[in-house]
Amino acid sequence: MNYSTYDCIDAGTENCPCYLALTGDCLTCSRLQGKDSCDCNWKGVCIYNEFMQGNGRVNNPRKEFTAGIVRRKFYLDDLAVFVLDVGKGFAIKAGSPGSYVFMRGRKDTRFYDIPISVMHADVERGQIHVAVKVISTKTKTLLEENEAFVLRGVYRNGIQGLEAVRPRNLKNASVLLVAKGIGLAPAILTAESLGNRNRVDLVVDTEKISTELVSDYLSESGSETAGSGVEIHRIRYMSLGSEEDRQTLERVMAEEKYDSVAVLASDYYVEQIGKLTERILPEAKRAFSNNFRICCGEGVCGACSVVNAGGETIKMCKCQLK
Ligand SMILES: Cc1cc2nc3c(=O)[nH]c(=O)nc-3n(C[C@H](O)[C@H](O)[C@H](O)COP(=O)(O)OP(=O)(O)OC[C@H]3O[C@@H](n4cnc5c(N)ncnc54)[C@H](O)[C@@H]3O)c2cc1C
Ligand code: FES
Repeated sequence: MNYSTYDCIDAGTENCPCYLALTGDCLTCSRLQGKDSCDCNWKGVCIYNEFMQGNGRVNNPRKEFTAGIVRRKFYLDDLAVFVLDVGKGFAIKAGSPGSYVFMRGRKDTRFYDIPISVMHADVERGQIHVAVKVISTKTKTLLEENEAFVLRGVYRNGIQGLEAVRPRNLKNASVLLVAKGIGLAPAILTAESLGNRNRVDLVVDTEKISTELVSDYLSESGSETAGSGVEIHRIRYMSLGSEEDRQTLERVMAEEKYDSVAVLASDYYVEQIGKLTERILPEAKRAFSNNFRICCGEGVCGACSVVNAGGETIKMCKCQLK
């Protein structure tokens, strides 16, 4: 993976300038990095100007709030979906591929904050749906909460290679989403965002996940179950670890000639299917889960840091690789 060229996911958004501008560490603006002249490649609104005009403050810092649990549904003993009351404004912002929030139970300290992907944004009702897969302390604690969570967001960098799946970039494109495990949650949001204007195929590995969860949110166009969720072109269930299914996936890729391929799974499958995509569809744009340990999401704590070939420390919660 090439970590040397990247954009800041928040540059030019309502959350820019951010905390990094306060300390001379803006990822984009050379002036806010302490240089005398401007040598940035940023083509949006001038971040330096925004910072100065805003009296040197963080723009719109993401604040914690309490979001009531409207509904909870268990799909497996260790997999539950929560419908949360977040208000319309928040739900609108949460509808883009790669959106995630930080969540913890009301009585828990900030140590318990974890990133959880937005799986569905219901703007009309002002709700978001999130799926929690239990692993250990923090996810178990989330499942004990019955009334409300403390939420912070919306954060945008849950997927790397977002240009491959951004709704504004794609029209009449053919898109393949491959999901395994809890990667299904961001895959559902991505499928919903792209489904109307593009031909979207979803491959789901059924291990550790419920097919009922898929059918509650998505359906195949023309199928008997159509109407129970957003319609997409095709849903295939596979085992990504099986050689036979891997060959099927290879054949499907070659036949369908996808414009974009997104792999929302563990790093192992991101690498394996990434190589397959490179071989079969070298022209396809690629996206994949941002699987780094993300703790603050603001580029401050350093939990997600990686040092690139040039010796530069990159914060993967903020950096969108190019
Ligand atoms: C952008 C993003 C979106 C995510 N979306 C979802 C989701 O929709 N549903 C869901 O159930 N889980 C999601 N996760 C993973 C979830 O945050 C971790 O499973 C959770 O933090 C594990 O905490 P734990 O105490 O239960 O287990 P731990 O024992 O603390 O961790 C188990 C494993 O989870 C991973 N993990 C732990 N802490 C973090 C962290 N802060 N950031 C990333 N990974 C971590 C590590 O791989 C670790 O080995 C997402 C992670 C990221 C980065
Ligand atoms: S998660 Fe804190 S710096 Fe990235």
